[in-house]
Amino acid sequence: MDSILVTGNGPLNGQIPIAGAKNACLTLMPATLLSEEPLTLTNAPRLSDIKTMTLLLQSLGAEVSSLQDGQVLAMSSHDLTSHVADYDIVRKMRASNLVLGPMLARLGQAVVSLPGGCAIGARPMDLHIHGLEALGAEIELKDGYLHAKAPKGLKGAVVELSFASVGATENIMMAATLAKGTTVIKNAAREPEIVDLADCLRKMGAQIEGDGSPDITIQGVDRLHGATHQVVTDRIELGTYMLAPAICGGEVELLGGRRSLLESFCAKLEAAGIEITENENSLTVCRKNGRVRAVDVVTEPFPGFPTDLQAQMMALMCTAEGTSVLEEKIFENRFMHAPELVRMGAEIEVHGGHATVTGVEKLKGAPVMATDLRASVSLILAGMAAEGETKVSRVYHLDRGYEHVVRKLSGVGAKIERIKEQS
Ligand code: EPZ
Repeated sequence: MDSILVTGNGPLNGQIPIAGAKNACLTLMPATLLSEEPLTLTNAPRLSDIKTMTLLLQSLGAEVSSLQDGQVLAMSSHDLTSHVADYDIVRKMRASNLVLGPMLARLGQAVVSLPGGCAIGARPMDLHIHGLEALGAEIELKDGYLHAKAPKGLKGAVVELSFASVGATENIMMAATLAKGTTVIKNAAREPEIVDLADCLRKMGAQIEGDGSPDITIQGVDRLHGATHQVVTDRIELGTYMLAPAICGGEVELLGGRRSLLESFCAKLEAAGIEITENENSLTVCRKNGRVRAVDVVTEPFPGFPTDLQAQMMALMCTAEGTSVLEEKIFENRFMHAPELVRMGAEIEVHGGHATVTGVEKLKGAPVMATDLRASVSLILAGMAAEGETKVSRVYHLDRGYEHVVRKLSGVGAKIERIKEQS
């Protein structure tokens, strides 16, 4: 099992290229199941989660070729041989549940293992099921698997989501593309990954309007055709690396970064005293002198502050001037990084969904443990500004969502390396 060693090394300087979005690619790949014709994705990120989705699609009979050093995914679902998404794959990555809607729409049946809970929360699928049942699917849970069928095909309907769930919006939107008639998803998720999926589906011949707003309208069509689509920039990787110069000082240019992907996050960084400049095709982040100011944060669905940047923002607030309160409103158990940051000398009190962080002058290096994807990178960021060495273990979490972390951060001056440990 690998660990990452990182030592505080002063201000950063240089450029970091931002990859395609994991959370867009993980919903774009299942879209191939909607058509017999090939779907090609460019600007795909090289991550272990993408490999897991590839295995899942291949287990259903789809062809998936990874080209150009993994940045191009050529897929075809001409000859699907199975409609069962096996527990052994789904338990590794809950986004596997995004094959449910497409398979149901294309094949009239799907059997998908229920993912179960994860480190950050229970994460049920009731909204996915509610939406697909509204489109006429019959769904029952048997032996830990969702058995879904729509022998006569799906039928358009109005689906009101009680919470703007990203995954439920994606599953229902994909299913509705081949349903008879019109579907309206009310209180839909508005994340950029939803818009990217809608853009791709439109290229495949789908009729979709309103993506990016709370109401999405899908006019079903008989069939979808092939397409080529470029995956949108990863706004969570972008935000994570914007925090590197914010925490360590210095100036870093994030290539491919766009402010519109992270407006609420950028506003919080500026309130903390960080300079952000938008260039033609990049963002430059700069912190010159002095400590950052403490700011309060509440995580919300897009366009609110992203929950996937909460842990990283907490790392910044650990050395801010003053006290900040971070409220986590999306997941019920997403402060596992706090006790690890306390091991590095941070002052953090967690009460339910609120974490109160009292800024300290300096953190101190320590051995810490990653508990989930975003927690792992928040510990690396904290280590980059700490005195002495920090060793972050269980970094397999990191590989799920960040490609080439060591190369990207050492490229701007961080003292960081990956070490193999005897298991
Ligand atoms: C997506 O997860 C992302 N994952 C998550 O990123 C991200 O944190 C989340 O959206 C919120 O932005 C992918 O896109 C693969 P939700 P998803 O459905 O779709 C509850 C990362 O770090 N809910 O919007 O699972 C749920 O329990 C990951 O990259 C129900 O109650 O998120 C949660 O509390 C972590 N019933 C809330 O809604 C449902 O049927 C948000 O979930 C569905 C969701």
